[in-house]
Amino acid sequence: MQGLFEIKNGSEKISIEETPKELGRFSTQNIYMGNSIELMREIPDQSVDIIIADPPYNTSKGNNLSMNYGTLPGFGGNWGKISEVWDDMSLEDYISFTLNWLKEAKRTLKQSGSMWVHGTYHNIGIINVAMQILEIEIINEVVWYKRNSFPNLSGRRLTASHETILWAHRGGKRSYSFNYEHSKNGDFSDDNLKNPGKQMRTVWDLPNNKTKQELAHGKHPAQKPVRLARRMIQLSASPGDICLVPFAGSGSECIAARDEGLHYIGFELNEEYVQIANSRLGKDGL
Ligand SMILES: C[S@@+](CC[C@H](N)C(=O)[O-])C[C@H]1O[C@@H](n2cnc3c(N)ncnc32)[C@H](O)[C@@H]1O
Repeated sequence: MQGLFEIKNGSEKISIEETPKELGRFSTQNIYMGNSIELMREIPDQSVDIIIADPPYNTSKGNNLSMNYGTLPGFGGNWGKISEVWDDMSLEDYISFTLNWLKEAKRTLKQSGSMWVHGTYHNIGIINVAMQILEIEIINEVVWYKRNSFPNLSGRRLTASHETILWAHRGGKRSYSFNYEHSKNGDFSDDNLKNPGKQMRTVWDLPNNKTKQELAHGKHPAQKPVRLARRMIQLSASPGDICLVPFAGSGSECIAARDEGLHYIGFELNEEYVQIANSRLGKDGL
């Protein structure tokens, strides 16, 4: 596709090149099926502006909840666990998986770039340590407060109502972008904790519920709301930048990138999820 198209960013209209960019053998505006560690190895050094990674949290560790009428798999702890093969590794495997993908992510990220990584207590400590080992510098730890979180069914623990996000740059000279003015004065009216005109803090109150449109193309057990990745992009990237999404799932972060006027490349292991993502991105049949 050639030409220019316009997107709306708040009240502003931005025109960006629609022509896909080449990145090694990949071209932007696509989701590729495969193992992201292997696929990332084919991306040139320091070529992407922002990485938004929502990796497996490794929460699928049995821990069933027994009820009078039967057993609910994965609900015995304090988390709605994802009973999927891709989310179930030994601790050793998960540590090595994390080091491997983060090493590639760092290599592909520009010095001016940012990476945002999702997690909960199950995996975020491992990601934090892996970043320190790889000398990826953490800029902020953000708490995503989920005001509408699912109740704890066992009644034996507190209701888990937040996730953690690490914002980092590749390490070395600090030249990452931060759209400070937007962080302070942008429109964050859906966030009850953000005071207009005041500095943005590290606790974000963003509802986890998805719009009908976000759910219309099929189910993913760990789908994130698009508004979350849009905020990360607005804070640390600019229209025309390239966004890499190593664990694309149903495509939420790719949609956020597109809607913010960025080029995106997604990687995803599971064919069914690639189809959902392509359908959400309006690429059915491609
Ligand atoms: C937490 S989910 C991401 C969900 C996504 N944020 C969304 O909103 O749909 C993690 C995804 O990583 C995928 N995945 C797991 N291991 C992978 C790997 N090695 N390479 C690529 N994708 C992988 C899973 O299939 C799953 O869809």
